[in-house]
Amino acid sequence: MARVKHVIEAQQFDPDFLKRLFSRASEMQGLFNGNGSREQLNKLLPGKMMFNVFYEPSTRTRMSFSAAAQHMGMEVVTTENAKEFSSAAKGETLEDTIRTLCEYHPDAIVLRHHESGAAERAAEISTVPIINAGDGSGQHPTQALLDLYTIEKELGRLKDLKIIIGGDLSHGRTARSLTYLLTKFSGNEITFVSPQSLRIGEDIKKHLANTKTPFQETEDLETVLPKADVVYWTRVQKERLAEGEKVEKHFIIDIPQLRLMKKDSILMHPLPRVDEITPAVDSTPQAAYFRQAGNGMFVRMAILEWVLGSED
Ligand code: NCD
Repeated sequence: MARVKHVIEAQQFDPDFLKRLFSRASEMQGLFNGNGSREQLNKLLPGKMMFNVFYEPSTRTRMSFSAAAQHMGMEVVTTENAKEFSSAAKGETLEDTIRTLCEYHPDAIVLRHHESGAAERAAEISTVPIINAGDGSGQHPTQALLDLYTIEKELGRLKDLKIIIGGDLSHGRTARSLTYLLTKFSGNEITFVSPQSLRIGEDIKKHLANTKTPFQETEDLETVLPKADVVYWTRVQKERLAEGEKVEKHFIIDIPQLRLMKKDSILMHPLPRVDEITPAVDSTPQAAYFRQAGNGMFVRMAILEWVLGSED
């Protein structure tokens, strides 16, 4: 029997796989946008069924996975707010929920959960592929895939990049997953910008050291902005702060900060943004975050095809 292909953490993918995945996503984007027909996409995964099981809020991940699946002819069954609306509210364990869902024979389960490690726990039990759509402060591998796809599409390369990753780096799972992927390409240098209390985790720093990826941590955004090729900004994850915890400093990218960036650099954000990028920045050429979100649907199509297909 073919092995079940789960998507649990960003570091499970190697550069060869990424190259193939991105070229397929780009092909699908072309088909969708007129270089072929949407009918072709619709015939890719007919009759397959995806379960969306979301214990935490989501707009982009849930909707783009659903749209991706439906454009490929799949059926989608969704539970949002599963923390309250599923039997978790009655005390059911994640393990029991996953075991039960497998009895309904979906072809894949896209899971967002509030606990770090939840996707891995689900994968240990599940008879069908689990796709981690965010597990607490752990990882968000499909976001990192679409982030990397966007960098390649916008800048034409994935190596020799100076990348600033900023915001809430201690709770933000997108920053963690993206860092793992960036270490797979040579010549990348990462600068983390965050308040002291929201610094990137020791596990990530250890990984950077192990992979000999140069990195620095700073609070001096203005000094580092002019050197960056990519600025990846994130919101403070208020829902993950301890009760009464206040963040001592707030970094905002507005027009004066944007002007410090290189003309051919890009500003990314996994979204949702709150106030850490002002709307005035949206119309600048560097602002890539909505294009980035749009790319997500095509990368997720390619992921679904890989997960449900027979090729490795
Ligand atoms: C992110 C997430 O859920 O981790 N959102 C997303 O999927 N695009 C970022 C966030 O919530 O801050």
